[in-house]
Amino acid sequence: MHFGNVRFLLSAHTIGQLPPPDRPDIAFAGRSNVGKSSLINRLVNRTGLVKTSGKPGKTQSLNYFLVDEALYLVDLPGYGFARVSQQTRRAWGELISRYVETRPSLACVVVIMDLRHELKTLDRELIDWLRFHRIPFLPVYTKADKLSRNEQQKNAAVLDAGLTLTPAGRIVFSARTGQGVEELRRRLTDLAGVPAEPGPPPPPPPLTDPT
Ligand code: GTP
Ligand code: MG
Repeated sequence: MHFGNVRFLLSAHTIGQLPPPDRPDIAFAGRSNVGKSSLINRLVNRTGLVKTSGKPGKTQSLNYFLVDEALYLVDLPGYGFARVSQQTRRAWGELISRYVETRPSLACVVVIMDLRHELKTLDRELIDWLRFHRIPFLPVYTKADKLSRNEQQKNAAVLDAGLTLTPAGRIVFSARTGQGVEELRRRLTDLAGVPAEPGPPPPPPPLTDPT
């Protein structure tokens, strides 16, 4: 996987419009305006692939991208944005919940949070719910470029504590600088169970010490 060959596939407004579950899905979730679309663009190195916006609530359907013919990236609508109607919010919530609970090929939900902000109830609830359903998830703390390295560490530790995570269980990221993108590609390749780039063969197993 090099995430180099990517194309937009379709935009689903209902479960019925999803593509067949013939490849693993990696879905990207998070509050409106947190930087989901920017993260996907950085992941595939295509600045304009997914529309980003200063206005929250830009992504309003499940947007499917096919990557290296091997997996789907799914840009989910953002949650927690107050300016859309109650009815629309409920419909989005229902679409996302049904998708996550029923999609057989869902390999991982990347939960994106803003490293500058304190833990939000909705993010916590999403992660609790994913844990409850035993759906693999990967928290990503984004917009790291807005903080010094010191502040990054401090804030990440606070979020880790709130979510009961260890540093190995999440990624500190920036769509602007590319911080964390290599690690994200590695983790997603593993989670999707697709072959990594051809590289050197794995090392032989360690010899057991007879002493
Ligand atoms: P919705 O689709 O509306 O839910 O938003 P989204 O989560 O897809 O966010 P989007 O990627 O559109 O980014 C929202 C704003 O945050 C834009 O102005 C981006 O330029 C900015 N942004 C996203 N990621 C980063 C980042 O890593 N660093 C900085 N400095 N800004 C970022
Ligand atoms: Mg978006």
